[in-house]
Amino acid sequence: MAITGDDINIAKSFLVKGELVAIPTETVYGLAGNALNEKAVLSIFEVKNRPAFDPLIIHTDSLEKANQYVLKFSEKAKLLADHFWPGPLTLLLPKNQIIPDLVTSGLDTVAIRIPKHPVLLELLASIDFPLAAPSANPFGYISPTRADHVNAQLGDQIPYILDGGECELGLESTIVGFENGEAIIYRLGGLEVEKIQDVIGPVILMPHSSSDPKAPGMLKSHYAPRKPLFLERKAVNIESPGTTGYLLFNEYLDHVDRRYQRVLSPTGDMKEAAHNLFAFLRELDNMPVDSIIAEWVPMNGLGPAINDRLQRASYLKK
Ligand code: TXA
Ligand code: MG
Repeated sequence: MAITGDDINIAKSFLVKGELVAIPTETVYGLAGNALNEKAVLSIFEVKNRPAFDPLIIHTDSLEKANQYVLKFSEKAKLLADHFWPGPLTLLLPKNQIIPDLVTSGLDTVAIRIPKHPVLLELLASIDFPLAAPSANPFGYISPTRADHVNAQLGDQIPYILDGGECELGLESTIVGFENGEAIIYRLGGLEVEKIQDVIGPVILMPHSSSDPKAPGMLKSHYAPRKPLFLERKAVNIESPGTTGYLLFNEYLDHVDRRYQRVLSPTGDMKEAAHNLFAFLRELDNMPVDSIIAEWVPMNGLGPAINDRLQRASYLKK
């Protein structure tokens, strides 16, 4: 088990030495290392068991620093950064050569964001390098939203977990890239598409191009529990209670033991549903059930991003 605590100086001392530390963000916990130190970046891939073709997001705490890591912000990128940083938005921008190719898997763009978490921002302000940080889960598994989730899976491989409490949003950042002046959404996430469109006008949605190695976080089977997960429009009339766990949107099923049910938001609040999604999936996965049945959620607010994760969790090997 790793040491868990809220001591920013301890986290910093490991990072400065090139070691990895799990960090809290407003989206999910990250597995962080010095993005300018190739050895540290390499160990991120190793610990996560992540293929080298899947590039990493770098995290920093100011536009001034961000400007050192990218060649330039396009007009739309600048608008988005001004509106939504710090926050759950990752921008794909032409990279400065100071960023190792290992971070970007050889691409000439780098994924960058300023996260919105007070503890992490304080840590970032205290160091003079950006943090490369994928979600702190083994590759392909459900993302962690609490320090103990990280400890359960990666605790043996990292020295320190900086505990910043439960992640407020519970969904990864929205990833936006740019081509020929158009903004393209590569991953749905914690920042709703409508909010982005309010600022820069129409965007192109391309969140499922999984054949392309640069396709962000878009490998089809991802965020997946170990148990087979089946997606239903509405989870009713299912046989075999007790051997099935249920992930429901806003109400319990009458005919099933409540211990095997999780309701994302009794009031139908999409933010609450997103906040609970990964933690509940984990709980169901750890129960003595053979499979999980999940319901699609409504398509308003964070609904599309939640459904995207459910769909990826349900894919394949089942
Ligand atoms: O909310 C988040 O974004 C969290 C927290 C820790 O910040 N991080 C996260 O990282 O979700 P990760 O590694 O699990 O997902 C990042 C995705 C990857 O799937 C990768 O394909 C994509 O971002 N990505 C990174 N750099 C890219 C680039 N230059 N071009 C296209 N996609 C990129
Ligand atoms: Mg991830």
